[in-house]
Formats: sequence, C-alpha cells, structure tokens
Amino acid sequence: MRKLILAAASVVALALAGPASADSPIIIKFSHVVASNTPKGAAAEKFKELAEKYTDGKVKVEIYPNSTLYKDKEELEALQLGAVQMLAPSNSKFGPIGVREFEVFDLPYILPDLTALRKVTDGPLGAKLLKLLEPKGMIGLAYWDNGFKEMTANKKLIAPADYKGLKFRVQSSKVLEAQFRALGAIPQVMAFSEVYQALQTGVVDGQENTASNIYTQKMHEVQKYLTMTNHGYIGYVVVVNKKFWDGLPADIRGQLEKAMKEATAFGNGQSAKENEEALEAIKKAGKTEIDTLTPAQDAAMRKAMEPVYKEVAGRVGQPLIDEFVKETGGVTH
Ligand code: LMR
Repeated sequence: MRKLILAAASVVALALAGPASADSPIIIKFSHVVASNTPKGAAAEKFKELAEKYTDGKVKVEIYPNSTLYKDKEELEALQLGAVQMLAPSNSKFGPIGVREFEVFDLPYILPDLTALRKVTDGPLGAKLLKLLEPKGMIGLAYWDNGFKEMTANKKLIAPADYKGLKFRVQSSKVLEAQFRALGAIPQVMAFSEVYQALQTGVVDGQENTASNIYTQKMHEVQKYLTMTNHGYIGYVVVVNKKFWDGLPADIRGQLEKAMKEATAFGNGQSAKENEEALEAIKKAGKTEIDTLTPAQDAAMRKAMEPVYKEVAGRVGQPLIDEFVKETGGVTH
C-alpha cells in the first residue's frame, strides 16, 4: 500500500507542477471514510461547492467518500505524502502519527454538550491543538462536528457489568481502549470500513458510534441493541497537506479559507439534526431495540469510566486535561 501511495503522490506532484489555469485547475483530493449523507459527508460537499465557486473554477475538489480511496490509517499517510490534499479524520485518529493530544476529546463524559465543545474548538485551546499538526506536515483548518456516541451490541447494555468480556471495536485511540477496559470489555482497534463486517461475522460484539454513522453503515441491521449513552463525542479536524497549502497563490488560499469557514458553519449547524434523523431511521427500521438509561444507570456508567482519566493522564497530559475541563466546565476527576 505504501508503494501505491508513493506512486500516487508522484503523479500528484507532477500534476501540481504547473500554474493553475482554466484548463488545468488545481485539484484538491478530499478523502474520507464515511457516507456522503453524514455530517462530515455533507460538510465536505458544501466545501467543494463553495471552493469551486469562490475560486471561479480554478480549484476543483474531488471527494472520495466511504474509504473508496484510503482507510483510516492509510489516508493520514497518503496526506503526509501528498497523494491526497485534504482529509477530516476524527480526533481519535491522530495518535498513530504521534499527536496524542487530540485524544483528550475521547475522554468519557468530558463534553457535556456542543456549546462546551465550541469553547474549546473556537478558542485558544483549539488553536493550540491545531498547531501540533504542523510538524507532521499538515495544517488543521477547521473542527467539524459529528456528534455524541451511543453503544451498540447484540446484548442489552444497561449496567457496566453488561460489557464484561464483550469485544468492542474502537478507533485508533488509547483513551478509547482504556475506556472499554474500564468496563471490563476487550477493545479492538479496527478501520471504520471494516466495522460492519466485523459485527456481522461476530469478530467483535459491539461498537460505539454516532447515530448517523451507525445508520449509514447499516450497523443497526447487525446489532440488536443500542443504548443512548452519549458518553463521548466524535468530531473531526479538517487537515490539508502543508506543502500544498503553503504553495497555493495567496488569493486562492484566501478564497479556500472563506469556503472552509462557511462550510464549517453549515456542517456544524446541522450535524445534531442529522444524528436525530438517523436515530429515527434506526427506530423505523425496527431491527434494533433502543434503550435509554435512568439517572442512576447513567451515574453507574460514569463511575465505571472514571478511572480512565488517571490512566491516560500520562499519555494525553494532565495539564491539557485540566485546561480542557476548565474551558468546558465539564466533568472533573
Ligand atoms: C469511526 O471510525 O468510527 C469514525 O471516526 C468514522 C468517522 O469518520 O466518523
């Protein structure tokens, strides 16, 4: 795969060698792993529409959704090598390239709601986190929402004890691994594109995700139970290859920044609604029992996951966790 990525990178480098003209627009390949009818898919489409409009066709954005080009880990390597120019991986996926700090977003119950999230992403802490990406050859342009995660399995999940011994697929985040271990479950890191089949064949018993991801990947068809835990958040960092971005004519970069700003406002303005609609669609499909927790059951889940904060403090950084919690007014441990 690395060879393939390299070959693609050199083709792209050649294509970018000449100046942009009406005949040879600048191409932005935007790769992502989810369906087009999700919060990320819709925001990417909006960015394409606005970027092409504001640059008067000098930039063409090619979107490759649903892991058609690369899976999770490969897409980050491809971006670093210049085989694609833009991605929006979830916060949970930057650990493998050496930026562990984004895993702070994965801490259970750290975000009480989206208003608290915005305090981080729109403030100095969000900007500081984006800066960490530059030494990795990428620039963070924006934070895009998906939403809050629910738990699914073929077993009813109400109490922490229900998780014991079950295998759960996780994104590539050590915080998420620790979270499932705290519940007595067995975490297994897996690419998003492989989750449906792993659930169907019983390679894993369950997973955590937003309603829009569950519905568009048809996970509900192979999961009998969904519990509305809202225990964590999935959001994205839109990243662009640094060399590519720095090499753009300043006027074009400005137009793309404007397009990104507006696409972000658009996407983040409708992500919650998209997840609500997906949840309704899951209910309507009638294959999955949807459970909600009583306040006491919710408290038991929070308590069971509390040790995660201490366990990952060394990895994510206690000062960062403290700063995050201070910004959000969220849970303190
Ligand atoms: C996942 O891997 O479960 C999600 O990060 C996929 C995505 O991009 O929303």
